[in-house]
Amino acid sequence: MSPRPVPMGLLPDTARIESDGSLSVGGCRVDELAERHGTPLFVYDEAHVRARCREAVAAFGVDRVVYASKAFSCAAMARLVSDEGLLLDVATGGELFVAMHGGVPADRCILHGNNKSLAELEMALTVGADTQARPGVRQIVVDSFDEIERLEHLRSRGLPKPRLMIRVTPGVHAHTHDFIATGQDDSKFGFNLSNGDAARAIDRITRGGCGELVGLHCHIGSNVLLVDSFAKAAEVMAKFSAPYGLPELTLGGGLGVAYVEGEEAPSITAWGSVLLDACRALGVQAEVSVEPGRSIVASSAITVYTVGTVKPIPGIRTYVSVDGGMSDNPRPVLYGSGYEAFAVADVAAPRDMPGRLVGKHCESGDVLIFDADFPSSLKVGDLLATPVTGAYGHSMASNYNKVPRPAVVFVADGESRVVVRRETYEDLVRLDQV
Ligand SMILES: Cc1ncc(COP(=O)(O)O)c(C=O)c1O
Repeated sequence: MSPRPVPMGLLPDTARIESDGSLSVGGCRVDELAERHGTPLFVYDEAHVRARCREAVAAFGVDRVVYASKAFSCAAMARLVSDEGLLLDVATGGELFVAMHGGVPADRCILHGNNKSLAELEMALTVGADTQARPGVRQIVVDSFDEIERLEHLRSRGLPKPRLMIRVTPGVHAHTHDFIATGQDDSKFGFNLSNGDAARAIDRITRGGCGELVGLHCHIGSNVLLVDSFAKAAEVMAKFSAPYGLPELTLGGGLGVAYVEGEEAPSITAWGSVLLDACRALGVQAEVSVEPGRSIVASSAITVYTVGTVKPIPGIRTYVSVDGGMSDNPRPVLYGSGYEAFAVADVAAPRDMPGRLVGKHCESGDVLIFDADFPSSLKVGDLLATPVTGAYGHSMASNYNKVPRPAVVFVADGESRVVVRRETYEDLVRLDQV
């Protein structure tokens, strides 16, 4: 049990405690945002996101930071990170469409994915052809021999020649949850380095001419808290890539963030210096890029819920139910991830009541915090917030139990704007045909 208040370090940069003890973010009172927009509500601190983007560009260089839009994407977010000088990693045709809908030119987008369809590849080669710009995405990160075959087919049909990266599986197991570790040999992603597939893929592309090979890419996993894992991947990739002399090298793997009290994560600046120092020491000549998602956006947002039920079971535990749940944050159920919770009206209140924070879905597994600490004054109708929900929350949201997805607001300088409106019941039947 933690009687301490929620650590302010987990909250967005502009979070403040107002004179009545209540929370504001970006100069906006959160209780007023909830009143205006309803709950559950994602509140993103725009200044926080911009600060992380700028820190990343300062650490790695212009056009060397690729925002992984899977962490959180919507048109406004795509525009914001692009305005800050980041490129966009899009893992599907849908993510590419949303980025372009936000005004991001195709040639600022890099297409990923372990199973890109022919249609997605065709879209990546031709998108933007109706504008002045050169058509097609900036790069495609090739993931399999089947994909090379599809690219060869498209080339034979006379489609433009893309710039390609090859995703190499370096055989490095990052210290993270198995479901988000991607660099080990036993992976659905990329070409294994150890069995010769990566070298064969390079050979086939350079001989076959389905695209211009501009570099190599690796990704060791997400929420990586030990920067040494990145240095290890750099070592493997530096050795493998040296003989090819390609101009670009992406050392992916997402820097982790602190989700709960006591957790610590390296800063983006520290990540940059460890990674780039390692590359310099290894004699890497290529331009090095990174692909952060979570570290740009996770701690910029909180989710605000309304408490609907408080159920003490004497001798067992107290369940606190809110008006969202696994449909707006599936991470606790997927990975057993931890979060904190606090009362919006009394941010500094000691949290002296242990319990379990659950949602409104028809599953016992619908848990947001398995072992939560609440203020003992918490009651039905109160606003409760969970910090660090800016990544893989709204982007992984579902309509399970036909619960409409929450609205997303951006706040800055005392102003709020809805960037994703709340779904309605009509939205739930929009695609149905009777
Ligand atoms: C290829 C690729 N790039 C970037 C990312 C973003 O990682 P993170 O959000 O942890 O920074 C991922 C996440 O899994 C990924 O698969």
